[in-house]
Amino acid sequence: MTNESTQHELPRHRLWQPVTAKWFATVFGISLTYAIIRYHLAGDVPWIHFPLFIVNKATALAATIFVASSYLIGKLIRWHNHDPRTKLVVIKFCGLMGFSLAMIHAFASFTLLTPAYFAKYFAADGRFNVQGEIAVFAGIIALWALALPAITTLPMMAQAIGGIRWKRSQRMGYVSLIFVLLHLIALGLLGWIAPSQWQWWLPPISLWAAAIAAVPLILKLASLSRDRKDVS
Ligand code: HEM
Repeated sequence: MTNESTQHELPRHRLWQPVTAKWFATVFGISLTYAIIRYHLAGDVPWIHFPLFIVNKATALAATIFVASSYLIGKLIRWHNHDPRTKLVVIKFCGLMGFSLAMIHAFASFTLLTPAYFAKYFAADGRFNVQGEIAVFAGIIALWALALPAITTLPMMAQAIGGIRWKRSQRMGYVSLIFVLLHLIALGLLGWIAPSQWQWWLPPISLWAAAIAAVPLILKLASLSRDRKDVS
């Protein structure tokens, strides 16, 4: 059987591995390239810290891009065949990919979270300072809030919990994005407001990620205020 005839027999409303692999490669590739340029080439991070420290930065950025994209598809991104079923599959792919990358980022970050890597998040006694406390708390809540829509994408869940609760759980992604923003502000604000210290004038990854996380939140706020005006 040829590859082409196999494709024809498969249901139309699924994303096939070559498609998802291409999207993953694009988003992760861009994130990793930026991390390498910003922190290894322009910055002074030694290459021995590439496998965990730098890949973790790219993973965190890619996670944020996928999660934000899952709430932007259908709003900003025009889906070429306007098929709601295909759109749902794309949303699910982005959400689950974002969640899995966020999990990897969280595990990697827990192993890295020491004063040797992140002196600026620690007090002299080796405990977190207020910046570290807020950032890690917000990261954990963001991950938890992301787990809820991820779990409810399991096939039996819509029936098990009913349409209204299913929709509500999907909206937890917005809560996650709010906490991702808090996570990034706590981690990065001081660096964002000092552009003269940016290597090669390249903004830190945390600033790109914050801008990306803010887009679906701003669109959601705009649509909520439009709905409120229509009612009154
Ligand atoms: C248990 C949960 C989490 C922990 C412990 C955690 C920890 C960290 C740490 C330590 C950093 C600093 C990394 C660095 O500067 O190299 C960081 C940065 C970041 N985190 Fe998280 N995080 C968590 C959850 C999340 C989630 C759920 C997201 C988004 C979906 C996220 C997105 C980011 C982004 C985009 C950065 C910026 C990377 C950079 O500036 O290099 N984090 N996180």
